[in-house]
Amino acid sequence: MKKDKQFPEGFLWGGATSAYQFEGAWNEDGKGVNIVDILPHGSREAVPKDHKILPDVFYPSHGGIDFYHTYKEDIRLFKEMGMKCFRMSIAWTRIYPTGVEEEPNEKGLQFYDNVIDELLKNGIEPLITISHDEFPLHLVEAYGGWRNRILIDLYVKYAKTLFERYKGKVKYWLTFNELNAVRGYSMIGTHSADDQTHYQAMHHIFIASALAIKMGHEMMPGSMFGTMYALSAIYPATCHPDDIFKAMSARRQSLFFCDVMTRGYYPNYSEEIFKEKKVVIKKEVGDDEILKQYTLDYITFSYYRSTTVSQNTKIDIMGGDPNPYLETTPWGWPIDPKGLRYVLNELYDRYQKPLFVVENGLGAVDEFDENNEINDNYRIQYLANHIEEMKKAVCIDKIPCLGYTMWGCIDLVSLSTGEMKKRYGFVHVDMDDKGNGTLKRTKKKSFGWYKKVIATCGEDLSL
Ligand code: BG6
Repeated sequence: MKKDKQFPEGFLWGGATSAYQFEGAWNEDGKGVNIVDILPHGSREAVPKDHKILPDVFYPSHGGIDFYHTYKEDIRLFKEMGMKCFRMSIAWTRIYPTGVEEEPNEKGLQFYDNVIDELLKNGIEPLITISHDEFPLHLVEAYGGWRNRILIDLYVKYAKTLFERYKGKVKYWLTFNELNAVRGYSMIGTHSADDQTHYQAMHHIFIASALAIKMGHEMMPGSMFGTMYALSAIYPATCHPDDIFKAMSARRQSLFFCDVMTRGYYPNYSEEIFKEKKVVIKKEVGDDEILKQYTLDYITFSYYRSTTVSQNTKIDIMGGDPNPYLETTPWGWPIDPKGLRYVLNELYDRYQKPLFVVENGLGAVDEFDENNEINDNYRIQYLANHIEEMKKAVCIDKIPCLGYTMWGCIDLVSLSTGEMKKRYGFVHVDMDDKGNGTLKRTKKKSFGWYKKVIATCGEDLSL
């Protein structure tokens, strides 16, 4: 008999990844160059001006952890953990190498056929991000990326190819990743986007996402569409009304994207933001109607930390003031499990749509001990505390949450720093920051722990 204080049956426990952070094989089987392929050291901070791949520079994402060739072995490990769900993204350039081809690259599709079939064979539900921080480099060079409306059609063509191929196999889709955090590079191929360019590009993304949802629902009845947002909890530094108002403004700034895509219109407060930033969105006839009709079915987000702001804080998703009540990770991110319960409640109060935690985890340096094992109790502690708070949100606050996919369930290349040593996984991959290593997979202590968590549907979180 189901107890009141349990996660619901069918809760999707799993792990999350993105194509360029782990597939490798960056130029195999006809794959074209992605905007993320040209980031030296993988970090999105350093963008080469001429967009060239240099022979003597190391690009960690080019080899990734070689999932392209090891997917069977890796999926076997996910199955052994008992995962019910696996979040992955599709590399646009495996399917359309430059984005403008008439016909898709069959070899690229075959790779994803194999991965998706392997997941399904192992009872693991795929959750697919259509574009995770990436699109064909050619679309930056030819059109300036998402600032050009033509990308809407190219994205819709790409999405249609995926829906045709994976209808009946994939139910859960995400149109984009962390839309509230991808300013600049992942939209137009440079960090120096002025506000007008940024918001205009974002408008094109809103329309592309809505049209993909329309088409997805038509082609795949019962499919569920979301978009992913980076949603730290945001707190005022003090009870000074100016700090509180600043925290509210910061929240609006980060929920703006979700507001448009979930409610189907630009929120009232955006008028003032646009006025201040001198932004005028150019819309075509019919855009407002498209936004209104094709909104998100569920809301997904990454949760790693909370952010504290005071009246003078510059609003930045990864910045904020120190919070004296919280410890931080080795990379300086405040650790705040209760913030996850807070955000789950906040989002449901605001949107009344099902939620899904599609990223959460701890980036840490893992060392082998004298027995050649990784005893990552710190990771277990971090995850257990977050899952405990998610459980309170689900069981006590009655928030409908579809699942939890832990970020980087197998070690992969860090997005923000391009490092391998910032590890998240339950599975260690033998590879260092310079690309040395055998790629051997080793289970960490957290592997067995997560297996138990899944087997007891979140009941047993003990070490
Ligand atoms: C999210 C991204 O921002 O956070 C992932 O969707 C990313 O791609 C993850 O890897 C963790 O960030 P990082 O910088 O530690 O890899």
